[in-house]
Amino acid sequence: MKLKIAVQKSGRLYEDSLRLLKECGITIANGGNKLKAEAANFPIEVYFLRDDDIPQYVEDGVADIGIAGENVVYEKRKQVDVQEKLGFGKCRLSIAVSKNETFSQPWLNGKRIATSYPVLLQQYLDKQNISAEIHEISGSVEIAPGIGLADAICDLVSSGSTLLTNGLKEVETILFSQAVLISSKELSSEKENLVQKLLFRIRAVQKARNNKYVLLNAPDNKLEDIIKLLPGMKSPTVLPLATKGWSSVHSVLQEDDFWDIIEQLKAAGAEGILVVPIEKMII
Ligand code: PRP
Ligand code: ZN
Repeated sequence: MKLKIAVQKSGRLYEDSLRLLKECGITIANGGNKLKAEAANFPIEVYFLRDDDIPQYVEDGVADIGIAGENVVYEKRKQVDVQEKLGFGKCRLSIAVSKNETFSQPWLNGKRIATSYPVLLQQYLDKQNISAEIHEISGSVEIAPGIGLADAICDLVSSGSTLLTNGLKEVETILFSQAVLISSKELSSEKENLVQKLLFRIRAVQKARNNKYVLLNAPDNKLEDIIKLLPGMKSPTVLPLATKGWSSVHSVLQEDDFWDIIEQLKAAGAEGILVVPIEKMII
């Protein structure tokens, strides 16, 4: 018995999806342009599919789980469970207009908006009490205003370079999106166990990514102040250095408040601060 996971076959999520699996100890030999691949060291089978189709495959049970963008998951309104945000593939679904337009609401009233996301766009328009005409097109949405097909577009923006090269500017964001792990609502308990095993690994990898291992030297008379600045998993490790009157302090810091704490540590007398990435973190 194998868990079947659907991942994007090429595009913004492909590399990060495979990297995440690899960091979870799941190596896939995807030589060539295969549709299907097996992992050597985890009972999992990988299907490479178009990202837009992944929620459908998971709903139908063709795949047990999948990695897809929230934008696609919510647009397709499929019956799947969202298990975990994966922290990559970050982008936003935004409305954009010609860069020369002076935009302020209710500018969109009565306008035509081209998009591949009619469901999410309609929800947004309803909430804002705007009545606009939605033109659903499946690709190259960004050229619609230039050829007179629409007054505005609603599309994914990541770096913003697609908008820029097409003379468009982002005016409203309707959804922030990232990759998520989705699962079928009808998994056998055996498969459910495998999903939990995979999630355990994913969380350990994610946690590690958000934390750094910090080592520093401190004069013993400053130790107390320095330790107060460090959260650590339980409390920091303190080891004596060969040089008398000095200690080495080891701890774990979160990415978010990392720089602030490093500055305070330096000010409190810490020296020789080393910051090391953590590979896995299980707490
Ligand atoms: C999106 C969107 C734009 C581009 C924006 O397509 O439709 O074309 O990415 O990215 P940028 O701001 O970095 O230029 P996507 O990669 O999702 O392709 P798809 O629609 O074929 O899935
Ligand atoms: Zn897509």
